[in-house]
Amino acid sequence: MTDAAKFTPRVLSGIQPSGGLTLGNYLGAMKRFVEMQDESGLETLYCMVDLHAITVWQDPAALTRNTRELAAGYIAAGLDPAKSILFNQSQVPEHAQLAWIFNCVARMGWMGRMTQWKDKAGKNSENASLGLFAYPALMAADILIYHATHVPVGEDQKQHLELTRDIAMKFNHDYGVDFFPITEPVIEGAATRVMSLRDGSKKMSKSDPSDMSRINMTDDADAIAKKIRKARTDPDPLPATTDGLRDRAEARNLVNIYAALAETSPQAVLEEFGAGTQFGTFKPALAELAVEKLSPISAEMARLMDDPAEIDRMLADGADRAREIAHPILKRTYEIVGMVGA
Ligand code: AMP
Ligand code: TRP
Repeated sequence: MTDAAKFTPRVLSGIQPSGGLTLGNYLGAMKRFVEMQDESGLETLYCMVDLHAITVWQDPAALTRNTRELAAGYIAAGLDPAKSILFNQSQVPEHAQLAWIFNCVARMGWMGRMTQWKDKAGKNSENASLGLFAYPALMAADILIYHATHVPVGEDQKQHLELTRDIAMKFNHDYGVDFFPITEPVIEGAATRVMSLRDGSKKMSKSDPSDMSRINMTDDADAIAKKIRKARTDPDPLPATTDGLRDRAEARNLVNIYAALAETSPQAVLEEFGAGTQFGTFKPALAELAVEKLSPISAEMARLMDDPAEIDRMLADGADRAREIAHPILKRTYEIVGMVGA
């Protein structure tokens, strides 16, 4: 199937409003969202996936606040409601409606193999929500309800995007149509997998119990500097080439973060500092760069959060625009499936 020809390029991605934004979300996802928005010829939709967030318990007041804060983060990072469609998932009911169809397309075995499910449900899967198990079918619906062709995400979402392709292929095959595109993941940049500052084998996450493990987008300059100063490294200095970082997860992580913030490559960072540079020198430079890049974003987020009604208006407008695309695609899906009255 030649999707590129049949489907107009359209970008969709989402972030869960399940806690504060981290540097991992920013470098792995949001920064790329802005770059794709500003590339000509691409229609871009970005959502706050509140229906995904509640697959694990969310305090209602916190969910409301986190959704608005994420919207503020999108705008502060450079997403423009005049260029991109920004909305929260639950305001566009077509996501949940298509997700039901996909629940009937996806197989239990596919879902059971998802590593995020295995990690999050752990040994206590009997007690996990049914929504957590079905999570990737809803994610496929988020994407395919717009016939999105490109999805910028961090490395951890690769498997879910493969499943999205499997769902589209099975639907097209079962119903004998060429209706849903086979979406391309866009996993690019120097920091597609930002690791914890305390443990180079774990990804930086908003749900890590240790706040020292992550940089939050709302951290002030002192907190950022302290977290980077205390970040785990090994005793060796910077090597000459990225090959020398291969078995040094913590050191590699800091170099990658620097490269992503400076919009350059890890190799260029090593050349700029020079082989033999100690972390005692590199860490303050990294802290300074992080503060320079992140503090305007957090200041703008705080300013936007002073007017939640304006955020809500912006999201309502985004949802209206999203529904204009989603509604006819859902209607056509119902017709294909054979539902009377579609
Ligand atoms: P989540 O916070 O799980 O909803 O993730 C939102 C987006 O941020 C997804 O595209 C993730 O892949 C990306 N992301 C989350 N954590 C990281 C990380 N540590 N490094 C790179 N990307 C990340
Ligand atoms: N599962 C993604 C995450 O946790 C969030 C997400 C939900 C998403 N729906 C999406 C990402 C659609 C891209 C496209 O990071």
